[in-house]
Amino acid sequence: MKSVKPLLEVKNLHTHFFTKAGVVRAVDGVSFDVKPGETIGIVGESGSGKSITAMSILGLIPSPPGKIVDGEINFKGDNLLKKTEKQMRQIRGKEIAMVFQDPMTSLNPVFTVEKQMVETILAHEKVTKKQAQQRAVELLNMVGIPDPKKRLKNYPHEFSGGMRQRVMIAMALSCNPSLLIADEPTTALDVTIQAQILELFKKMQKELDMAIIMITHDLGVVSEVCDRVMVMYAGKPAEFTQTKKLFDNGRHPYTTGLMNSIPKITPNKEKLQPIKGLPPDLRSLPQGCSFAPRCNHVMASCLTNDPTLSEVDDNHFVRCLLYEQSKKAVTT
Ligand SMILES: Nc1ncnc2c1ncn2[C@@H]1O[C@H](COP(=O)(O)OP(=O)(O)OP(=O)(O)O)[C@@H](O)[C@H]1O
Ligand SMILES: [Mg+2]
Repeated sequence: MKSVKPLLEVKNLHTHFFTKAGVVRAVDGVSFDVKPGETIGIVGESGSGKSITAMSILGLIPSPPGKIVDGEINFKGDNLLKKTEKQMRQIRGKEIAMVFQDPMTSLNPVFTVEKQMVETILAHEKVTKKQAQQRAVELLNMVGIPDPKKRLKNYPHEFSGGMRQRVMIAMALSCNPSLLIADEPTTALDVTIQAQILELFKKMQKELDMAIIMITHDLGVVSEVCDRVMVMYAGKPAEFTQTKKLFDNGRHPYTTGLMNSIPKITPNKEKLQPIKGLPPDLRSLPQGCSFAPRCNHVMASCLTNDPTLSEVDDNHFVRCLLYEQSKKAVTT
């Protein structure tokens, strides 16, 4: 994987919202890359900037009040931030597809699933309506919807939650994207359906050699499907490394806090240890490290110095003063 050229490179991304109540630094210095066929996880508590990172990549930040104030988003070597809205419309759906956090936001309740799928395919591919209909049937079949020909005539509300999620995935895959961004694709689903959807992602990925960015707050999902993971805290990456390294040797106190707050099946029923306190207000971040007020390892310098993301070990990046000495900083 190491020498493979990245499909996507996000460099020092800053996306802020300029509101009456102040500037919300939703994404504040995020850098990561995704290689072809790879699955990258983005994890972190609610409000840490996961969805806004995804929306920034797709050029979907509502402006005003939002604005990408700094950074680069290179996809296949081109900076997406330099593209026009017309060019972005061609990339969205065709090259980069997204499964949104709430399936009903991307399914239109007044049209049948067939109409929506066929229109998406026709907008991006040079095919006839008949071929697009045939493709829609194949896609529903691929995501495990029984009797797809008949089901295409249904409206979104006629599907159960799990089925709707499958329809969304089918739509996202309809133009063979090289990158799929899935924002909490399984959060609302029960565990059996969740497992089926994750299996489906793996199968699709193999068949289409597609890269995936999987946004989730569920570390179980991460361990199941991701090659590498970025842990986000208050709009910044706290740690970024291979999944196995993160689970075996997570370094950032926030990462270890997240790990300790997942239930484990052990005979002596260890007590869960939730991370104390709450995420900071992104409009008035504390001086120094934004995690310091909640950190079990806080030092005096953490209250004044904002750490930089440093490589502490081969391909293992951590943003924490505990590891900063003698390490090479990669971002500021
Ligand atoms: N339109 C907006 N105006 C102002 N602030 C916004 C806007 N959209 C998002 N934000 C803020 O940006 C921050 C990051 O939001 P984001 O949706 O990326 O969080 P998230 O990590 O996806 O959380 P969740 O796990 O709850 O989905 C939040 O503090 C949110 O309130
Ligand atoms: Mg979100």
